[in-house]
Amino acid sequence: MQNILVTGGAGFIGCNFVRYLLEHSSRIEVSVYDKLTYAGRLENLKDVSERFGARYHFVQGDICDAAKVEDTVAARNIDTIVNFAAETHVDRSILAPAAFVQTDVYGTYVLLEAARKYGNLRFHQISTDEVYGHIEGRRRSVESDALAPRSPYSASKASADLFVSAYHITYGLPVTISRGANNIGPFQYPEKVVPLFVTNALESIPLPVYGDGKQMRDYQFVADHCAAIYLILLRGRIGELYNIGTGAEMTNLDMVEILLEELNRPRSLIQHVEDRLGHDRRYSLDVSKTLALGWEPDYTPEEAIRATARWYRDNRWWWQPIRDGEFREYYASVYGDRKVLDPR
Ligand code: NAD
Ligand code: DAU
Repeated sequence: MQNILVTGGAGFIGCNFVRYLLEHSSRIEVSVYDKLTYAGRLENLKDVSERFGARYHFVQGDICDAAKVEDTVAARNIDTIVNFAAETHVDRSILAPAAFVQTDVYGTYVLLEAARKYGNLRFHQISTDEVYGHIEGRRRSVESDALAPRSPYSASKASADLFVSAYHITYGLPVTISRGANNIGPFQYPEKVVPLFVTNALESIPLPVYGDGKQMRDYQFVADHCAAIYLILLRGRIGELYNIGTGAEMTNLDMVEILLEELNRPRSLIQHVEDRLGHDRRYSLDVSKTLALGWEPDYTPEEAIRATARWYRDNRWWWQPIRDGEFREYYASVYGDRKVLDPR
């Protein structure tokens, strides 16, 4: 039996990954370790605890709490750590960066120390394409590119990547790192653009497109990202980095058109607003190294956007309580005073 600690497993990608692991192998036990911040929710794992009770365990804890992390690693007999735990939203990192430095950098260091102390555990770090910074022209980021993060969020993720690599080089910790493009799909907190726009559209609230909306993103379906991470755990070369995405970008405006069409909502809901500070114009990944492991995404970005829009349309029970809670205050702080741009 393999004993995997999934930190941040109550968040969006983490909960989808936990489901993926438990469905794919009866020889895996999963312990989720999660602080349950605003983004971590036990509802995201409700069906998991019902379906896989014997092979699934939950611990509420902070990855910055070394004693609790170590107790969990020892008590659960962990052999592999997959670290999803992080503060993840760029706009929140612009408003209040401290939590990003604390969790994304210091928290990763605490996990690396625990992995080292308990027998050089296998360690996989979930990173992001944002560490490469924005990409000019037709270029694509390859894993050997220099890091050039431009937001407090991406700077904290890049720092964590450097620590993970350093623990491999210095202590021989068996690590891998994956850098994913934008994920979309079930259980994503509605602060991120696709679930925000879908839920706004379902409530007939304008969709606040930053600036001209011509920024490019690779919107990948979360299940595809999870499949790639699992394959890297199985077949990835120790010490290596892997990009994960569809390799196809589209503008935010194209993404909006697709979701409005899927939901049958009018284009008049589009509202251009003042841009994000330091907004990265384009991310673009070369994913050939991950494809070479035998992985292939099942969804194109357009299929992923449509499937996500349908999930939110059909699962109001999940997002309505969120939008009625803490989210209201957050929404007012980010969008309340934001200048609306003249569409001409
Ligand atoms: P999320 O915000 O939905 O979930 C983050 C989870 O981490 C939550 O459950 C939260 O409670 C938990 N957490 C936060 N601080 C913690 C702490 N100090 N201790 C323990 N748990 C803590 O994020 P997500 O979108 O699922 O992202 C997961 C990981 O994937 C992150 O590392 C993120 O940087 C990375 N990533 C995300 C995307 C994306 O598009 N969402 C793309 C590439 C990489
Ligand atoms: O690229 C991977 C990253 O994708 C992850 O590492 C991050 O955790 C995740 O949050 C995401 O970052 P982005 O900044 O790309 O995602 P977000 O959903 O915030 O924004 C996507 C695009 O949409 C970006 O160009 C900004 C734009 N946008 C976003 C919001 C919230 C808008 O136009 N309006 C909005 O209200």
